[in-house]
Amino acid sequence: MRENFIEFKKYYLEAASQLVKDSFFMESINHKFRHSICVLHYGKHILYQTPELKFQSDDFKNIAQKALLFHDVGRFEEAVMRYHTPDLEKNPMILNQYDHGLIGYEKLKHNPLYNDIRILLAVRYHGKMIDQVKKTALWEEAQKSPYAQDCEKILYLVRDADKMALLKDIKEKDRLRKDIFFKLLSKEALEAGLSQEVKEQFFASRPVVSQSVISFSDRILFVLAWIFDLNYVKTKEIFKENGYAEHLLKMMSEYNVSDKEINDVSNFAYQNL
Ligand SMILES: [Fe+2]
Repeated sequence: MRENFIEFKKYYLEAASQLVKDSFFMESINHKFRHSICVLHYGKHILYQTPELKFQSDDFKNIAQKALLFHDVGRFEEAVMRYHTPDLEKNPMILNQYDHGLIGYEKLKHNPLYNDIRILLAVRYHGKMIDQVKKTALWEEAQKSPYAQDCEKILYLVRDADKMALLKDIKEKDRLRKDIFFKLLSKEALEAGLSQEVKEQFFASRPVVSQSVISFSDRILFVLAWIFDLNYVKTKEIFKENGYAEHLLKMMSEYNVSDKEINDVSNFAYQNL
C-alpha cells in the first residue's frame, strides 16, 4: 500500500498548495485525509472478516484497498473549486452542487495506476442512492465487464466502510453538530421535529433521500436509516457493537421528537439490525 499512500498524498498536497493555511477549506481537506485513512481501516476490517470477501484473490484485495483509500479523492479538488467560487470564498458555509464522486472519478480515470472499473465505479457512486446507481451507464459498463461481481462487492465495501467511519466521527466528535447542514439550519428547522416524508421512508425500510431532510431530527433519522443501506454482516456488527443506534436516538430525543416517535423508531431500527 506504500506507493498508494504516496500517490494519495500527492493529490492532497496538490490541493493544499492552492489553499490558505488554517482556512476553512484547508481544515476540510485535512479532515477528508484522515477520514480516508479511517475508511481504509474499516474497509480492511470488513474485508478480512467477511467470508465472501476474504477468500478473494490478492488482486481483488489490492484493488478494494485502493478504492477505499481513494474514494473521497475528489474532495481535495472540490475544496479548491469551492475556494475559487466567488460567493463561497466570502461564505464557505454555503452548500454547493459539486459532485466529489464525479471529480474523483475524472481524476483517477486519467491515472493509469487507478483507471480500473472496479475502483472508478466505487469512487463515483459511493455516496449516491443505490437504486440510482443501478440505472447509470457506468454500472451497465461494470456489469458487462469481466469484473461485474467484483465491482459490486467493492462498491458495497466502500459504501459500508464510509458509513462506519462517518458514524465514528458522529459519535466521538459530535460531527453532525459541526457540519455545514447544522450551521446553516434556521432556529425553526432546528426545532421542527421529524418530517412526515422522512418518517415514511424510514418506516418503509428505505434510506432517506437527502432532499427530504428539513429539520435536524430529520438529519439524525437520515443517518439512522443507513441501517437499510448496509451490505455486509460485519458492518452491521460494527454498527451494533458501537451503540450507534442508541447514540442517534438519544441525540434525536433532544430535538422535539416525542417519546412515542422515539419508541417507534427505536423498535423499528432494532428489528432491522
Ligand atoms: Fe464521499
